[in-house]
Amino acid sequence: MKAIEVGVIGTGWCGGIRAETLKDHPLVARLHIAETNAERLAEVAASTGAATATADYQELIANPAIEALYVCATPETTHYTIAREALLAGKHVFLEKPIALELWEADELVELARRNNIKFTIGYSQRFNPKFAFAKKKLADGTLGEPVSVLVSRHITRNLGKKISGRIKLSPAAMEATHDLDFAFWLLEPAKPVRVYAQGANRVMHATTGLPDCQFITVTMDNGVVVMIGAGWILPPAYPNFSHTWIEIVGSEGALMIDDSHKDVALSTLSGGTVFPMSTMPGEQVDHVYAGAMGPETIHFLEAVARDRPVMVTPESARAVMEVYLAADLSTETGEPVTLPLGNEQRVKLAAAGGMR
Ligand SMILES: NC(=O)c1ccc[n+]([C@@H]2O[C@H](COP(=O)([O-])OP(=O)(O)OC[C@H]3O[C@@H](n4cnc5c(N)ncnc54)[C@H](O)[C@@H]3O)[C@@H](O)[C@H]2O)c1
Repeated sequence: MKAIEVGVIGTGWCGGIRAETLKDHPLVARLHIAETNAERLAEVAASTGAATATADYQELIANPAIEALYVCATPETTHYTIAREALLAGKHVFLEKPIALELWEADELVELARRNNIKFTIGYSQRFNPKFAFAKKKLADGTLGEPVSVLVSRHITRNLGKKISGRIKLSPAAMEATHDLDFAFWLLEPAKPVRVYAQGANRVMHATTGLPDCQFITVTMDNGVVVMIGAGWILPPAYPNFSHTWIEIVGSEGALMIDDSHKDVALSTLSGGTVFPMSTMPGEQVDHVYAGAMGPETIHFLEAVARDRPVMVTPESARAVMEVYLAADLSTETGEPVTLPLGNEQRVKLAAAGGMR
């Protein structure tokens, strides 16, 4: 098996993790990075020893030696544009969520990858959290019997809520619940979502961002299973980017309760108070070991390209998740349940309002 040349576009928080993870991997022949922030570009170029480092991502797209690109730029308006150019150039693409801002954009990307037989995946990192993988296994092997209900309640800190909502008007459904919708639909495959009802609350963030503090989303599946996803982003900053998640999966023959609240390690210092380390959603490198999901996820895509194996998250599944969080935004705004698939009228309404954007 031969090592390949790979590139990372946007080396901020997540792109930085991806570049650091790729830099020493034996399947990476050369690492290339693109980043518009000159200081950050220099920092990541130095820490990864990247073969090339540029402010212009199109240099990576034009480089015929690069086979795979990780697209990790923000704001999220960049995702469709950069991914489309990369797919048109025949690169295999790992794209951070969200796949796109409009459904037609997602459809186009999915079709481009399919038609040209290109590997294309979206960063639903939580599928690489061992607790989430265990849940999938226990449903697939029949331990829990027939699924009845899936509940995920996730809260992240206000620091992260402000970072996200400060750069783009995308809702907690689109930016946070999206991970758990993907998780629930992955668990319940091949069942399909048919109806969405969501509510939000506007006490803290709405005045400055126009976005709710949380959204609670109920999804009915075509096999009758009930999915409930709660996503909030106003926790006090006990730890930057702390993520607290509680999961209940109930089946006809058993139940699985998962505590993913990351409260099991508390670091208390005179200078910094008490914090919960290793509690972000992407996780972090801790000396010789990666604590979290984003490291293994990054390597999985590298291996999928180098070994010509299927990707874990298909773009079609990411597109299906997108339709549900858009429906959740619509339902939050109107107070009415939304039936899937979204009709033309609903899609026009969403486009006019820019989703919840
Ligand atoms: N899977 C997860 O757990 C997870 C967690 C956080 C964020 N995300 C997703 O990952 C994406 C990145 O989030 P982040 O927190 O790393 O963002 P970030 O803002 O920290 O980093 C993005 C970087 O992209 C750079 N950039 C912007 N335009 C560029 C361009 N044209 N070319 C090259 N670089 C460019 C910016 O300068 C910045 O450094 C987001 O879209 C977000 O939805 C996923």
